[in-house]
Amino acid sequence: MIGNATSNGRVSITGIGSYAPERVMTNDELAEMVDTSDEWIVERTGIRERRVAAPEEALSDLAMPAANDALEQAHLDPADLDLIVVATVTPDMPFPSTGALVADRLGAKEAAAYDLSAGCTGFVYALVQAHGMLAGGLVDKALVVGGDVLSRIVDWEDRSTCVLFGDGAGAVVLERVEEGGFLGFELGADGSGGPELYMPGGGSRVPASVESVTGRQHYAKMNGREVFKFATRVLVDSAAKVLDECDVPVEEVDVYVPHQANVRIIDHARRKLGIPEERTVVNVDRFGNTSSGSIPLALGDAEADGRLQPGELVLMTGMGAGLTWGSALIEWTANGKGGRG
Ligand code: ACO
Repeated sequence: MIGNATSNGRVSITGIGSYAPERVMTNDELAEMVDTSDEWIVERTGIRERRVAAPEEALSDLAMPAANDALEQAHLDPADLDLIVVATVTPDMPFPSTGALVADRLGAKEAAAYDLSAGCTGFVYALVQAHGMLAGGLVDKALVVGGDVLSRIVDWEDRSTCVLFGDGAGAVVLERVEEGGFLGFELGADGSGGPELYMPGGGSRVPASVESVTGRQHYAKMNGREVFKFATRVLVDSAAKVLDECDVPVEEVDVYVPHQANVRIIDHARRKLGIPEERTVVNVDRFGNTSSGSIPLALGDAEADGRLQPGELVLMTGMGAGLTWGSALIEWTANGKGGRG
């Protein structure tokens, strides 16, 4: 799917917040658990540390501070929300949705609320859904949350995956605006690549049971080399397609926010695209790969340190389980005012 996002009026991000658990886990700590080293992890991935949720923390506990900050920045009361979409592969529980739990905790009594599963691309998929409902006039105020508690589904005995992942969440408010906002989207999925990155247990094929847990079916499994090849290809292709669709030369991209999986993948993509390092947001060194939380956490970091200014063009591209991928191009706005001046 590819499309221009401005044909039915403008929609933009008018508030943003992010949150990661307090507990920091360093590479040295991991080296005490599995046969690895800080040197190997930094050289192959760029990751130095990640956050890990406390035993009592679930996804909604990470989503709440992020959502509250986003709503505050947008000057919105939760009761004004019409829609809450939570992108995740690690909801609090299979049902009810974490979206519904977040709506209740926020006091968003008028909002439709649900979860969306598109692996690490979930946040971009959720942006597109909320955008469509806003542009179609079905809703006026939407909250999109992206977050994961991957520490709960990581196999802590598998060194090829446990060093990569972390926990975190981000949230954005979407509203219609006069100027600026989303310019275009590109989304895709290739289910034939599903077995490259998956968690077999807990669904209708391998239901939750003592046997499936002892058989380690409730852990994420990944073919790292295949996912690496896929990631380097789609990050470039998807970004190039959305820029082309919006008729925006890559030189005009002010801030590039790729999925934070691995510094080598990010470097490869930005070089191929021709985006300078100083325009690329990287925080995988501090958070690891937080799946659906990755792009909003990176956006939150960039916003906090002043890199996201109204009028700037921001390119986001995600990729992950599915296999899925997706890009969004947005002209950044502040509190719905927007415009490139
Ligand atoms: N510490 C030490 N050695 C390790 C570790 C580790 N943590 N993990 C693997 N190794 C070993 C392997 O066993 C292998 O040893 P061998 O040659 O004796 O078999 C050796 O290191 C090299 O392994 P490779 O897999 O070739 O290492 P590579 O350079 O490809 O890096 C990595 C592995 C980091 C996993 C890389 O393939 C990668 O980043 N893949 C993409 C992962 C990704 O981005 N996943 C998520 C995307 S989607 C989403 O976000 C859910």
